[in-house]
Amino acid sequence: MSPVALSALLALAAVSRVRAQTDGTPTATTPLVDKTYAWGQQPYQVDPLDLTRGPQQGYNICNSTTQNQESMCQTMVVNHIDDFCLWAPPIPNSTIGDTEGEEVAWCTKPGYGTRLMPAGALQGMQYLIAPDYIMLTGFVDQSLIDMAPDDFGGELDPHGADLRGNPIGGLLYSNAYPTTNTDNSSYTQVNEWTEYIGSNTFCIKICNPQSTNQLAMCNNRYDLIGISFNCPSTPTNGTFEVCDSDDMDPVGVYTSDGQTITWSQPNVGPVTSVPYTPTPPASSNCRTYASTDLFTALPTPTGASASASSGGASATSAPSGNRSSSNGSSASRSGSAGSASATGAGANGAGALKVSAAASIFGTLFAVLFLA
Ligand SMILES: *[C@@H]1O[C@H](CO)[C@@H](O)[C@H](O)[C@H]1NC(C)=O
Ligand SMILES: *[C@@H]1O[C@H](CO)[C@@H](O)[C@H](O)[C@H]1NC(C)=O
Ligand SMILES: *[C@@H]1O[C@H](CO)[C@@H](O)[C@H](O)[C@H]1NC(C)=O
Ligand SMILES: *[C@@H]1O[C@H](CO)[C@@H](O)[C@H](O)[C@H]1NC(C)=O
Ligand SMILES: *[C@@H]1O[C@H](CO)[C@@H](O)[C@H](O)[C@H]1NC(C)=O
Ligand SMILES: *[C@@H]1O[C@H](CO)[C@@H](O)[C@H](O)[C@H]1NC(C)=O
Repeated sequence: MSPVALSALLALAAVSRVRAQTDGTPTATTPLVDKTYAWGQQPYQVDPLDLTRGPQQGYNICNSTTQNQESMCQTMVVNHIDDFCLWAPPIPNSTIGDTEGEEVAWCTKPGYGTRLMPAGALQGMQYLIAPDYIMLTGFVDQSLIDMAPDDFGGELDPHGADLRGNPIGGLLYSNAYPTTNTDNSSYTQVNEWTEYIGSNTFCIKICNPQSTNQLAMCNNRYDLIGISFNCPSTPTNGTFEVCDSDDMDPVGVYTSDGQTITWSQPNVGPVTSVPYTPTPPASSNCRTYASTDLFTALPTPTGASASASSGGASATSAPSGNRSSSNGSSASRSGSAGSASATGAGANGAGALKVSAAASIFGTLFAVLFLA
């Protein structure tokens, strides 16, 4: 969405919103980013409202009965390179632009009550552990997680014009930021995160809930300029690595002639030029892994996904009754579009990236390809 529209909304929200009931429990109208629930204490739906957009397409209580490839679980985790989820559509051959409010969790391990990314979907990744965030960028066969093969994708975050997030009601947790112990047995909610996915590439960045730098590192106001600016990193297709990393510079901040300058994304896209080139922060201690060691419990791609992958006719065969039901995307597609036009933020409809489907590498070239 446009930064101006966003700040106006945030300012309004700051005065008028009811953050929580007196006992601290979020209410239905609490902005998603402020909805905080201990792991295991999530309600069935954190956003049951039926407003212009919505209702929430899935649910936040996920368990063994929702552990299947039709799961509508919208509670996800990002723990480590072998143990994370991505938001992606619930129905094959969807674009992020059409389904941003409806994405569901696709994970690399069973146990969270979600869908699993089919074997082979993840093709190469770099997992950067920085002081203020964890960022995972990589290459994905997006057709295997229900995306249209040629979708250039979009940006997802827990804000959105109406503060209900994309996906609406999506919650994210991690065992990487324990508050009560130093092992990985406790899960902490990560309220600030951002995901970019499209053109068979992705980035998911989760900001350290204990950091005072969360808003700068997980800034969601640069959605039109894509992965290379928002997730500066150096993944290699075919390689799976974990590195320690410095923090990135906040998006939009760069140095020229010794001066620190902040560039803001224009209110309306497309963005045709950005006055700087993003520099991936220094990283060290990189360790590489074989994907066969990392991902041991993933299902074989189904015929439906495989045919989508090869351009076959999955859309006619794949959706089961419940996936094309009212919980599917058609109901809220119009809601989503309506919301975008209501705010006047034309480019916001999808937070769409202006990216060529041919984009295949990160770095400067990739950055250029994001520009219309
Ligand atoms: C499992 O999750 C479903 C879907 O959210 C929920 O309806 C059901 O009550 C849960 N079961 C248990 C035992 O928590
Ligand atoms: C969808 O339907 C299939 C079979 O019709 C069922 O196994 C599955 O649990 C359903 N999924 C949801 C989320 O209701
Ligand atoms: C916790 O850490 C142990 C040891 O590093 C690892 O084997 C295990 O998979 C981790 N569990 C989770 C849920 O991340
Ligand atoms: C995917 O959707 C596009 C656009 O609606 C359509 O042209 C194409 O045939 C679909 N592909 C599959 C595999 O269903
Ligand atoms: C659809 O969502 C509603 C809540 O919005 C839920 O009660 C119902 O079980 C869901 N149906 C399917 C098929 O997932
Ligand atoms: C990554 O590598 C795989 C396997 O070679 C290839 O099919 C895919 O197109 C590559 N992805 C990108 C975005 O270049």
